[in-house]
Amino acid sequence: MKRLGILLSGRGSNFLAIVRAIAEGRLNGAEIAVVVSNVAAAPGLAAAAALGLTTRCFLSRGRPRADHDADVIACLREHRVDLVCLAGYMRLLSPAFIAAFPDRILNIHPSLLPAFPGLDAQTQAFDYGCKVAGCTVHFVDEHLDHGVIVLQRAVPVLDTDNAPALAERILEQEHLAYPEAIARVLSGKYRIQGRRFEAISPSDL
Ligand code: GAR
Repeated sequence: MKRLGILLSGRGSNFLAIVRAIAEGRLNGAEIAVVVSNVAAAPGLAAAAALGLTTRCFLSRGRPRADHDADVIACLREHRVDLVCLAGYMRLLSPAFIAAFPDRILNIHPSLLPAFPGLDAQTQAFDYGCKVAGCTVHFVDEHLDHGVIVLQRAVPVLDTDNAPALAERILEQEHLAYPEAIARVLSGKYRIQGRRFEAISPSDL
């Protein structure tokens, strides 16, 4: 059984998409070991508790990043987490955090990286006038929204769109992309060549 540690700061819809994927047997061999938040009032944390999952909150506001991350790392280790999934976790991870889980931290970002890292990526893409937007699941490294890309899903930008409508359609694709990317990583049937995430045999992806 592979044990997932979920980190979130807000709504938690990507976390719930992972829960659904497990319940529907799309993430065979995975279970959620712990859900961690840095925001006490995060709706995702309440949803996790309501599902009977183990939840922890480590408030980050006003604390040095290294101290806060040390608490989160200890918690993930205590719960024997194999793969850390950032699901709307709006914090940069310290180098010590990355080093504690090498190639074992995933993030989802609502743009086709490397375009539009950072906050409000969907609005950035809309305002830029992109005709195609989307989402990216990637390994986390020490730079913002930067690590090796596991999977991307494209979303057309419609003439009738506004930024919230586009964000909603991107979110639908996020909910498909994240479980799929987690399944690929948990399968172990990949290698990382430079920045490229490659299936060991083509039928594995
Ligand atoms: C998602 O759109 C996710 O891609 C984004 O935050 C939202 C969280 O929603 N993450 C980032 O922008 C990370 N840079 P959720 O709490 O409903 O999953």
